[in-house]
Amino acid sequence: MNKQSITRELFDEVMVPNYAPGKIIPVKGKGSRVWDQDGREFVDLAGGIAVTSLGHAHPGLVGALVEQAGKLWHLSNVLTNEPALKLAKTLCDLTFAERVFFANSGGEANEAAFKLARRYGWEHYGAEKNEIISFRNSFHGRTLFTVSVGGQAKYLEGFEPAPGGIHHATYNDLASVEALISDKTCAIVVEPIQGEGGVMPADKVFLEGLRALCDKHNALLVFDEVQSGVGRTGHLFAYQMYGVTPDILSSAKSLGGGFPIGAMLTTAKIAASLGVGTHGSTYGGNPLGCAVAQKVIDTVSQPEILKGVKARSDYLRKGMMAIGKRYDIFSEVRGEGLLLGCVLTEAWQGKAKDFLNAGIDEGVMVLIAGVNVIRLAPSLIIPDSDIDEALERFERAVKKVCA
Ligand SMILES: Cc1ncc(COP(=O)(O)O)c(C=O)c1O
Repeated sequence: MNKQSITRELFDEVMVPNYAPGKIIPVKGKGSRVWDQDGREFVDLAGGIAVTSLGHAHPGLVGALVEQAGKLWHLSNVLTNEPALKLAKTLCDLTFAERVFFANSGGEANEAAFKLARRYGWEHYGAEKNEIISFRNSFHGRTLFTVSVGGQAKYLEGFEPAPGGIHHATYNDLASVEALISDKTCAIVVEPIQGEGGVMPADKVFLEGLRALCDKHNALLVFDEVQSGVGRTGHLFAYQMYGVTPDILSSAKSLGGGFPIGAMLTTAKIAASLGVGTHGSTYGGNPLGCAVAQKVIDTVSQPEILKGVKARSDYLRKGMMAIGKRYDIFSEVRGEGLLLGCVLTEAWQGKAKDFLNAGIDEGVMVLIAGVNVIRLAPSLIIPDSDIDEALERFERAVKKVCA
């Protein structure tokens, strides 16, 4: 099969149709620029979906991967390995955590978190303590447990029966949680910023309220930081920005900068409920993934990088707001750091995908979150000049959509 025959059409011939990829096929990336098969160049404000935290082909990450690739790829969890231990130690040093479990994705990190919450409740308070409260519009992954905890019914349709004991409250509405919580609740699961649900930040008092409710009912507070974590908010994790500490935290996406890895962070006391044989993963803690994530964390946790996220955020937000004002298309630009949501006005409801597609035509990649929000999650080190170029191209796209 020659290169010419690898086309977008081939997707429809050989792939399961659960995705609807765009018409271009990117083949190369460097920093915040990406090139397709025809050599067309794009500015990347999507970062995968909030994944390539240090851009494409970052020399430090390439170096870490290549160095580890020449040493040791895999041995299984029958034996531990140096990169996994080193990364776990770093994550514990930089966060509330005392114990780490490694997985390969956000969904798997959450699966571990939810299983641990149930197991801890069962061990300490009995089998009745198994209920989980999460939120409408939340997103936690695509395994059966994580779509069940997630708050978007469409992702569960046709896959029932779902695991039981899961209740959904209203985000940023503490009273709706109070109405559901009881001593049967083993965990409240929440994204500090709902990503897929429209880039919706939690109110600080809401998260503080959840913490207090968990403490009152001996339930665990689980923060899903798969999208909001690893520097995206200008803090290593969003919980540090809010000053509300969870009992369990899940991380993925930016953690590997594009290499698949997930992690679940917790305390020593809670971790003890996942004893030998209770949970596992063949690839979790893989030396390649851990070596890359180590470089990501070592880089992103530097104060000047985190400060840079805030500066870039202000610059990008200002640029998008100006475009929004000129064409009257955004009611607000919300979010934190480099996870921004541009909310379409009444007149443009349901049209987010039109802007994404027009962006591709003009050479800029953006994301959507639902049908009414244009989401931006670029590299945390995107140069200002790339932001300028992206804004220019996006404005041209907007002009076309609004014509
Ligand atoms: C908050 C959140 N949790 C979990 C996931 C699932 O992660 P993954 O696709 O790596 O399984 C996502 C993915 O978008 C997410 O945004």
